[in-house]
Amino acid sequence: MSEVKNVEYGLEKIFEGAKDFLPLLGTDYIEFYVGNAKQAAYYYKSAFGFQSFAYKGLETGSKECASYVLKQDKIRIVLTTPLNSKSPINNHIVKHGDGVKVIALWVDDATKSWEETTKRGAKSFMKPTLETDEHGEVVRSGIYTYGETVHVFVERKNYKGVFLPGYTKWESDYNPEPTGLKFIDHMVGNVGWNEMNKWVKFYEDVMGFVNFLSFDDKQINTEYSALMSKVMSNGNGRIKFPINEPAEGKKKSQIEEYLDFYEGPGAQHIAVATDDIISTVSKLRARGIEFLSHPPEEYYKAVPLRLAAHNHKLKEDIETLKGLGIMIDADEEGYLLQIFTKPVEDRPTLFFEIIQRMGARGFGAGNFKALFEAIEREQEKRGTL
Ligand code: FE2
Repeated sequence: MSEVKNVEYGLEKIFEGAKDFLPLLGTDYIEFYVGNAKQAAYYYKSAFGFQSFAYKGLETGSKECASYVLKQDKIRIVLTTPLNSKSPINNHIVKHGDGVKVIALWVDDATKSWEETTKRGAKSFMKPTLETDEHGEVVRSGIYTYGETVHVFVERKNYKGVFLPGYTKWESDYNPEPTGLKFIDHMVGNVGWNEMNKWVKFYEDVMGFVNFLSFDDKQINTEYSALMSKVMSNGNGRIKFPINEPAEGKKKSQIEEYLDFYEGPGAQHIAVATDDIISTVSKLRARGIEFLSHPPEEYYKAVPLRLAAHNHKLKEDIETLKGLGIMIDADEEGYLLQIFTKPVEDRPTLFFEIIQRMGARGFGAGNFKALFEAIEREQEKRGTL
């Protein structure tokens, strides 16, 4: 599989000797701007199994917006909605619908992170800002990335509170069971025509990431449509941001459909890791999460051969995977199991991926064709193919 560009050398080797000017400890939180945060929180709790974690709103003295923080293992999502028509958050929602505004990164030094990135050309979203309460202090700063999406750097080493100053612990009587989601594996951004390399350069020059996998439109295409993708990773490999750009095909690329409906570049999907995808997907399906249609019969017939080609043996029962519509891909290092939801809002924009890695470090290139054909079936129904 020609998807692998540098991976055989390992990221560690790529970074050997290079000084990481932006050490990232992990994803801190993902903040969505939504039209109705209270109802969105109910959806993420009920359907995805997120737990009530922290809250701010009128009751806590937050007069401009309400935010619900939900947690599942290492994943924290924040759902924010404006409380009046004057808040600039309204403009974001009018233009994009519900969507990801902030991909927050956990750092040791938010001031230095802002200085190093703005010095290298990043547009500032938020100057280093100290926030304090009785539990300590947090420094946050932020820069713009593609579209109106931003990265906020969060320095919380001197903070003992539940989430951030201004938030209170959110206790609820309604606590659906988690579904086994563990952490963010990767987050994908869709950018405009001919802009992929501009954003690859941004992540390289401004954030010190490396491009460790690339897929061109010859690899990612179906009979009808195509896209290009490059995977960016930070120095320790904890943060991975693939970037997609539409490509010309006979019909409209799914990336172009996203750009039309999101009205610009933005976060396309959030891939969350589980260590038991069969259990996780069974629970999600039972709770009403809608996934893309099952790959065809021939797809599952080819799976044993694809695994055998790399000398891997599937630990899971293939009939169970097939029954749930879970896809399988393999590379030299192992295999992975993955499945994609339908968009989680009415505009065909953001969706989720559930992924279980069994050694493989790729992104399921062997599944792209089956996946995109499933997306095209949805586009067909929407009249946007
Ligand atoms: Fe993905």
